[in-house]
Amino acid sequence: MNVRYLGHSCFEVETSGKKLLFDPYITPNELAKDILVEDIKPDYLLLSHGHQDHVADAERFLEKSDPLLISNYEIVSYFGHKKHKKGHPMNFGGRVKFDFGTVKYVQAVHSSVLPDGTYAGNPGGFVVNSEGKSFYFAGDTALTYDMKLIGEYENLDFAILPIGDNFTMGVDDAVIASQFIQCKKIIGCHYDSFPYIEIDHQKAKRAFENAGKELILMEIGKSLSF
Ligand code: NI
Ligand code: MN
Repeated sequence: MNVRYLGHSCFEVETSGKKLLFDPYITPNELAKDILVEDIKPDYLLLSHGHQDHVADAERFLEKSDPLLISNYEIVSYFGHKKHKKGHPMNFGGRVKFDFGTVKYVQAVHSSVLPDGTYAGNPGGFVVNSEGKSFYFAGDTALTYDMKLIGEYENLDFAILPIGDNFTMGVDDAVIASQFIQCKKIIGCHYDSFPYIEIDHQKAKRAFENAGKELILMEIGKSLSF
């Protein structure tokens, strides 16, 4: 399984011969200006919620590479009305089998509305199982006690957690989240993209180290194998 960071909360995961793209916010992101958007051709597009910094490039990818959209019912319906009918709607607690593995849609404590004001349902995150591995993409969320459930039923190889504070949990709460989900390897996201969410990288890494965890802050454009 290969994980490439595309800035903010956007990741491309290549697994079982398929490309999964999460929360595309590339073209408006100054930090991701070296990413060649034309070269990204996802088979699946996963959207955690409707905010601009998670769906900005969604239509571009839906038009150019015709991926299957996986999100909540409201977001899939929204893009369906815009002529992108290839979608799989989910809601909390559902686990669905796709050709690369399974996806479970789980709760996030946040808000959600689409950029044009359309109601976007409740915000969520995804637990993905593929190639015998398991990971959790939390989306935008506060620390929540419900994360303990994920730790109880999943054996996570890694998790992608927001750490930028202000709009989501910050580093200290993300450390607790990593304990709740019983996961050692955490990839940080949702930091540094705007002044509100700038963080001290070394301090953040130390906070995780002190808890016996590893915080990975990926360079934009770079990949990791799991
Ligand atoms: Ni958000
Ligand atoms: Mn966000």
